Formats: sequence, C-alpha cells, structure tokens
Amino acid sequence: MILNKQVTVILGVFILLAGCGKQLVQSPAENDFNVDAELNYCVKQTSKALAQIPDNGLIPRNIAPNASQWRMVDYTDWTSGFWPGELWYLFEATADSKWKKVADKYTEYLKPLSVSPATDHDLGFQVFSSYGNGYRLTKDTEYKSVLLKTADTLATLFNPKVGTILSWPRDVPNMEWPQHNTIMDNMINLELLFWASKNGGSKQLYDMAVSHAAVTMNNHFRPDYTSYHAVVYDKETGKKIKGVTHQGYSDSSMWARGQAWAIYGYTMVYRETNDPKFLDFAHKVTRVYLDRLPKDLIPYWDFDDPAIPKSPRDASAAAVVASALLELAVYTTDNNLANEYNEKALGMLKELSANYQSKNHNSALLLHSTGHKPAGSEIDYSIIYADYYYIEALLRYKKIAQGQKPLITYKLN
Ligand code: GLY
Repeated sequence: MILNKQVTVILGVFILLAGCGKQLVQSPAENDFNVDAELNYCVKQTSKALAQIPDNGLIPRNIAPNASQWRMVDYTDWTSGFWPGELWYLFEATADSKWKKVADKYTEYLKPLSVSPATDHDLGFQVFSSYGNGYRLTKDTEYKSVLLKTADTLATLFNPKVGTILSWPRDVPNMEWPQHNTIMDNMINLELLFWASKNGGSKQLYDMAVSHAAVTMNNHFRPDYTSYHAVVYDKETGKKIKGVTHQGYSDSSMWARGQAWAIYGYTMVYRETNDPKFLDFAHKVTRVYLDRLPKDLIPYWDFDDPAIPKSPRDASAAAVVASALLELAVYTTDNNLANEYNEKALGMLKELSANYQSKNHNSALLLHSTGHKPAGSEIDYSIIYADYYYIEALLRYKKIAQGQKPLITYKLN
C-alpha cells in the first residue's frame, strides 16, 4: 500500500498552523500517535470490505454486532454517499488509482439524485460526500454538474416563511405534518449549498444556507446550548411550534450525534461565511459537549440516558466531533482553547484507534456506533458514516501535523 512516510509526531512537536497561518499553537504533550499506521489499517479493512461486498449496484451501510457481512442499501438511502466518500479519502491518502476507480464507480450510483425531485434533506450528505470529494480531487466537470443540479434540488425544500430547509417532506411521527420540520442533522447539508453558490450556482443558495443556520441557531438550542433533534415550525407563519427529539432519549436530552452535527455544522458555517456569530456559537455548542464527555472521550449515544454507564456508545459522534474540532481549532485565536480542541481531538482518535477498531470482527473500520436507539435500530453497530468521519479526521490530523491546512472542501473550483 502506498502511503506517505510516517507522520509520527513526538515530544511536543504537534505544531498547528492556525487561522490561515496567522499563528502557531504548540501542544506541550508528548504525542506518539502514528496516523499513517491508522490510515494503513483503513486501507486494509476497506480492501477486505471491497472483496466481500456483492457487486450488485448497492452500497454498504452497516454491520450488526455479531455479523460479518455488510447490509447493503440503494442510492436513495441517506447514508449512500459515505462509502464512495470513504473510497475518495483512501484515494487521497494513498494516491493509488485503484481507489479512484472504485470511488468513481460507487459515486456514479448516486447520479439519479441530481435529476429526481427532492424527497429528503439528506441530499447534501449523499452528494457532497461522494461527488463533492470526487470533484475536489479530480476536477471532473461531470461531477461538478451533478453537484450544482443537486444543490438546486435541495433548495426546493427551503421554506422562506420559516427560513430553513424542510428536512422530512412527509408524515413523520410527532412532526405535525404538513407543518414544517427541521432537524439538527440538516446543518451538514448546507455545505453543498455554500459550495454551489461559490462555484457557478445561484447566490440565493448562499442566502438560504445562512438563513437556515441563523434560524436554527435561534430555535434549536436550549439555554445550555444543547440541541433539540427536531424543531417543528408553523409552515405559514414561521413560528416555532415545539422542539422535540426523534433519535434521542427524550425531548430534553442531548442526543450525542445531534450535538456532533451542531459542532461540525457551525464550524463549517463559520468557514463559509466568516461571520463571527457562527464561530462564537460553534464554541458554545462544543463546550457543553466536551464538558459532559466520559473520560475516554467517546460519548454514550445520548448524554442523558439514565442507563449510563450500561448504555451503548456512539463512535460515529466521536468521529464527527474529532474531525470538527481539528477544524475549529484552526479558527480559534485563544491558544489554550485551540490546544484543548487539538488535544481532545487527538484523544478521541487515539481511543477510537485503540479500542473501537473492527479488525478482528468485520471489514468496517469502527465498532460501537448507535443509529436510532428509540426505534431499536443499529444499536452498537458498525455504521458507514462513523468510518467516513474517522478517515476524514485522520486525514485532517495528518495534514495539520505536516503543517498544512486541514482537509476542508470549501475551495473546490
Ligand atoms: N442523519 C441521521 C443520523 O444522524 O442518524
């Protein structure tokens, strides 16, 4: 396998290029994390997965705790972009064209999304992880065209009376359909709108993304900055009707992955807008998450599950947050805080690598993620999005350790 030479960083040489080269933040801690060894592990496991999965037009989504085979889904599934995204990241990590070939193959499976009406907000997750990474790495103009078309499709779900995208355009329990619902996860889909507005798409896409982020900031959070999973709005007046959960423990609990999407989402929105109110908010939603983590830095699926510590973890939330923290640290002018973010991100990556890898169990990268516990679905599973964000975080870490900017996708033209 072809990886660049080791980036084993030792004796406090975890030097981070922060704020586009404005300052250096140096961690005092000895750092013996071998990121290349972990990326090699990802290469090996994903090669195993590729050899195992059927070549039938479907895409791997999850592996149950005692199973060894992937459950496959079609391109309409909300997770369909993560597998091609993982393959693009391996192409980036190895520069081996074999990964480009398979990444392209699975990316193409999602093409119909760009020419079908929107049935869900997840278009950004699906198309930006696959085509977005593909375009960033290849500049293939066909990929660009799919991205632009899909951004326009996603925009059809925007309700100007509310100021957010409708997440679930259908009757979902507790969402008072046909009122307007927006879920925290939807923040991630804004990245596709920002990208499109800067790469030939309409300026309105940018305005929609900013509006969505601001309205969500005002309505989706409790006074302690923990997030509701879903908010229901009156679709005509735009007035908030209620904040509720869907995948979390209760309406007042902090669902781990929801908060992870908020941390990742507001960091990305700051990157795209340069508006300090979003940076300030990213710090606030991060603080409450970090302060309530268990010692090993991997959250239980919901921070307020009374069954803790006999409750499942969510490695996927840890992977999302590790990746987000590495980016947020770059924008953080307070050196102590930037150091904390970097050290915690590194701690998360070390813990995931030491105790959550799937190696002797299956061909995923990580074990112990929780998808939808209240529905009894994907509890303590290997799930493809955990793997995607784990590789993303490893790549970001490697770039930063080499003195480069972290991997971010905002300059794709
Ligand atoms: N976007 C759905 C989830 O995070 O489970």
